[in-house]
Amino acid sequence: MTVPVQAGLAGVAVGQTAISTVDASGSGLHYRGYSITDLARQAGFEEVAYLLIAGELPNSSQLEALRARLKGLRGLPEEMKTVLESLPASTHPMDVLRTGCSVLGCLEPEFGSRSAARIVERLLACFGSMLLYWHHFHVHRHRIETETDDDTIAGHFLHLLTGRPPTETIQRAVDVSLILYAEHEFNASTFAGRVVASTRSDFYSAITAAIGALKGPLHGGANEAAMALIEGYESTEAAAEGIRQALADKQRIMGFGHRVYRQGDPRSPIIKAWAKKLAEQAGGQRLFAIAERIEQVMKAEKGLFPNVDFYSAPAYHFCGIPGAFFTPLFVIARTSGWSAHIIEQREQNKLIRPLAEYTGPASRAFVAIDQRGLKPAAMDCDKINDRT
Ligand code: COA
Repeated sequence: MTVPVQAGLAGVAVGQTAISTVDASGSGLHYRGYSITDLARQAGFEEVAYLLIAGELPNSSQLEALRARLKGLRGLPEEMKTVLESLPASTHPMDVLRTGCSVLGCLEPEFGSRSAARIVERLLACFGSMLLYWHHFHVHRHRIETETDDDTIAGHFLHLLTGRPPTETIQRAVDVSLILYAEHEFNASTFAGRVVASTRSDFYSAITAAIGALKGPLHGGANEAAMALIEGYESTEAAAEGIRQALADKQRIMGFGHRVYRQGDPRSPIIKAWAKKLAEQAGGQRLFAIAERIEQVMKAEKGLFPNVDFYSAPAYHFCGIPGAFFTPLFVIARTSGWSAHIIEQREQNKLIRPLAEYTGPASRAFVAIDQRGLKPAAMDCDKINDRT
């Protein structure tokens, strides 16, 4: 049987979802029917997480109860601290979260009395604790207390990072970024999570797989890479020249382009406005101007627009967050969307198992080992490394 192949599943619908809609024209992204613009302007991240998972916005007592539960779930088990302390200081923060998620799955497994909803809240509450416990232990040789009294996940993260509660503006900037990063239909990491969920595996396994997919620079890792790009230029002129040269060398510019959006990413102007405001407050106009110049050159040369990751990078930078923590913040946000998708997948489950078009050798007779001659070895690691 020959079936048409769609490389990268581009343009292929592989399932139904009631969680979000991505409008290819770029005019809108909606979570459960609410526009991202309205949510970023008027809601908080915890409200959005509730909306994604429960399907409706919470009323004030439901939101208050969620916030209280999240506050109570910020502590780390001693065994988790031991693992975090034993990871190398050179570990990438995304690998810390991927490992931490897996470890929590051993310490607090899903099955039994621990429901999916409880695990979502636990992960949302303690991913920041894991990351910053590991960070302070290795950088400052200090075992921090991970339970703070901050009302929000953004505030908790920033408080643990700097050791003091954040300013209102910085807390809200990160809160908005979490809303923008919370959910995006069948993106690569969500799909990875749904594939794992479709085998009836446990919640932590699905989230761990999703973290692994998010880490790549073609997906969530683009925000860290975008920061390195912007910071690499001293001036707007150098940026323009450098980007033109990179394009001539057929390089990909991180933070630009999108698989689904063709005219613009609706999240980008929202986070760009925050990046601008934060740059003005932090005296970072030069860096912001460099970012804008890159945007102009990408538009002029390739007709490509910035995606959510491009201006998230300077926004986080002006909040005092190190580049390696940008994608982990994306993990914290997207845990809400991933969780909604895992729950939805379970409710309408069908094992995800696509087909492949075979391109290997035709059927052939097995050759005994002593009759194989001196052909070059197929498992030549250097050749494989060159190919990938
Ligand atoms: N920089 C330079 N060129 C880019 C580009 C970028 N960021 N994004 C796409 N292009 C070009 C490709 O080189 C290709 O050009 P060609 O037809 O001349 O070969 C064309 O645009 C189509 O790219 P393609 O990779 O087929 O599109 P895609 O839908 O598979 O890729 C992304 C989507 C997101 C993977 C891609 O835009 C990209 O790599 N962006 C940078 C990483 C990033 O920001 N990821 C976060 C996404 S939210």
